[in-house]
Amino acid sequence: MVPKFGVIGAVLASGILAHALPQGNPSDPSQPAGYLFAAFKGDEPQVFFLTAPADSPTTFQALNGGRATLIPTTGTGGARDPFIFRAQDQSRYIVLATDLDIGKTNWADAQTTGSRSIYVWESSADGVSWSAERLVELMPPTAGYVWAPSAIWDVERSQYALFWSSVLFDASDAAHTGPSTGPFIFYSHTSDFATFTPPQRWNPDSTPTVIDQEIQHLGGSSYLRYLSDTQEVRRVVLERSDTGLFGAWTRIGVPVDRVREGPAAYRDILDPGKYYLLEDDYGGEGYECYSTGDFEVPYAPCEVGLTPAGLRHGAVVQVDGVSYAALQGNVTAY
Ligand SMILES: *[C@@H]1O[C@H](CO)[C@@H](O)[C@H](O)[C@H]1NC(C)=O
Repeated sequence: MVPKFGVIGAVLASGILAHALPQGNPSDPSQPAGYLFAAFKGDEPQVFFLTAPADSPTTFQALNGGRATLIPTTGTGGARDPFIFRAQDQSRYIVLATDLDIGKTNWADAQTTGSRSIYVWESSADGVSWSAERLVELMPPTAGYVWAPSAIWDVERSQYALFWSSVLFDASDAAHTGPSTGPFIFYSHTSDFATFTPPQRWNPDSTPTVIDQEIQHLGGSSYLRYLSDTQEVRRVVLERSDTGLFGAWTRIGVPVDRVREGPAAYRDILDPGKYYLLEDDYGGEGYECYSTGDFEVPYAPCEVGLTPAGLRHGAVVQVDGVSYAALQGNVTAY
């Protein structure tokens, strides 16, 4: 069921991790009060939202009676690998997603003549109301696809850095029937998720064939990234840079020694020394939960396993008390 290269994936709750997490008065509605999870399901390539309270970070409750909230009508009409983050000015949440409905195609075509665009949705300040999607093209016709977008605020440029993976075909091979190179991770910068700087390879000298970047800012110039290594170890791998987003990355290892993809990482609100890593068992039940306090591999299974089952490659963000309270109005909607 999965293609030669493994699959799509990716996520990241990372944007939120870049922010200092105030541990102030929990009754202050500007403080983190819960988690908002955006995910897709294998046979339903649409964006589902779920929430969990601060004291129960792996037990999620579906919004909208379990129905998808974001259903694209442009592009292929299928959205996978949703990545949710809060805008740097806190004015809204943003969801990015892969444009792929595998039910209407097959993995061979999806990896050679797939969409070169991503979906972008933007919400009201509290995350309850969402715009229609914007379909934005990121790569030239030499690319075979654009998968698993994620974004993080780049403090060096005061813009968002947007990342995704693509394979490349020779410019003379317009039908993409010959060999490709990659997948590689590309990036571009943007202020508005409407216009973007020209795509560039991320670490062109060092990265093997990877997709599904999930980035966490540890502070200062230190970052972690999780990647799905599709060809060498077929595992999610962990790397670290202490020289910035575009500095030198060193591989730490494999947090979970199983065939998985689509990492999503988030930090505990009440215990900021604890981090969760979700990995997608794409041939099985979807996301499983692991946790760590020190980023040494292997990670431990979460004490309370992730529920509900069946969620796939998405992202989790911390939301403040205002957003969390407003989103609870959707738990019983419908
Ligand atoms: C909440 O419910 C409203 C009304 O049904 C809907 O328009 C909105 O998209 C929902 N938001 C989320 C996050 O599910």
